[in-house]
Amino acid sequence: MYDLIVRNASIACNDGSTMAGDVGCRDGRIQEISASINSQSSESVDGNGHLLLPGVIDPQVHFREPGATHKEDLGSGARAAVRGGVTSFLEMPNCNPPTIDQTQMDWKLKRASETCVANFGFFVGATKSNLESLNNVHPACGIKIFMGSSTGSLLVDDDTSLDKIFSHGQRLIAVHAEDEYRIKQRTSTLLSDNNTTYDYSIHSQVRDSETACIATRRALELSERYGRRLHILHLSTGEEVELLRQNKPSQVTCEVIPNHLFLSTEDYKTQGARVVMNPPIREPANADQLWQGLHDGVIDIIATDHAPHTLAEKSVNYPATPSGMPGVETSLPLMLTAMTEGRCTLADILNWMCRGPAQLYGIPNKGQIAEGFDADLTLVDMQTAQLLQDEDVVSRAGWSAYRGRRLTGWPLVTVVGGRVVYADGAIRPGIFGQPLTFDSTQTL
Ligand code: DOR
Repeated sequence: MYDLIVRNASIACNDGSTMAGDVGCRDGRIQEISASINSQSSESVDGNGHLLLPGVIDPQVHFREPGATHKEDLGSGARAAVRGGVTSFLEMPNCNPPTIDQTQMDWKLKRASETCVANFGFFVGATKSNLESLNNVHPACGIKIFMGSSTGSLLVDDDTSLDKIFSHGQRLIAVHAEDEYRIKQRTSTLLSDNNTTYDYSIHSQVRDSETACIATRRALELSERYGRRLHILHLSTGEEVELLRQNKPSQVTCEVIPNHLFLSTEDYKTQGARVVMNPPIREPANADQLWQGLHDGVIDIIATDHAPHTLAEKSVNYPATPSGMPGVETSLPLMLTAMTEGRCTLADILNWMCRGPAQLYGIPNKGQIAEGFDADLTLVDMQTAQLLQDEDVVSRAGWSAYRGRRLTGWPLVTVVGGRVVYADGAIRPGIFGQPLTFDSTQTL
């Protein structure tokens, strides 16, 4: 007797091949995978031959709770996640108050366990004075350092503090790599006229490629000096890919986000403030270098940096525009659509979005459809290209920079811990995910 059987699915195997069959789940785990399961189950899903994937792990989201829940809260962010096939997320500390000590971590864990339909984990945020907390707060998937300022108050940009953080402890350090000094300097020269209405595209000049490269080089040097586990978040430039291609120590990993793969400075013309984010979108040719970095294994995984702001907040004049766009629910369809266009394979997507993030953060039993693994699954429709509109967005932000695109691969059913949480376009109430566990000292 099973709790759930997903029948007649095209099951994604780790090597990117598929197998027609059934998946039986009990006690939150995948217990059996076979061509046909004879047992009974409390619930069953007819896969109708659709592609069944391991649930996506999104290792970088901002869900705004506590502090700005009109943009998103943990519950609404998790609902958006499962609608997009994301069954586990790692959330950033730049809320208000920020997640910089055990008290805030405990608050978030409790709140998430009461409201999140997906599995959850949280970063602890670095300040210039919370060194002790950084390595003692549990459970934390890693330490987040904003080397350049972005949304919220977290910033560590001086050598003394960075040295201290990199030299104490073993836990993974994830960096937002933009150089604060260069941001300030370019802000004062490029945005000196208070009476000008600047085009939003100037954002990509203020925080230019060199702004990202300087900070990435600095983080790499620190990691090498102290042998410290380093993960570079949302790598955005071809130059950084080249830098890492030439020298990527074994303790260093990095990620890219769909916004830097699928958007470019051309999008400012039609989307304006919507596509303002940190690090900014780049020239069109840059995306090819990021894709190449993914294919060559220089870039390890894909995250979204889901960063919801309301459209009203976004539409003020630059530079008051908040940076960031929602994305947790569109990453899988964007990547599956790219797969249909021949830009990547199913094996790549499994590696970059499921197995890779689980291995990188040392999350046990996730990211694969295999017996004994957690029953986090998503059944996707590869037959229908669906037009995305702002009204379809589940995130409280209520809009997407990908509106107007026809995307293939939208989830039909999402399963978290062996329970159906999303089906027929609706999220089932009263089901909650689990806190994730980590061993973030390990390397890939
Ligand atoms: O554009 C961004 N927005 N980049 C970040 O790193 C932070 C994020 C946010 O929290 O709004």
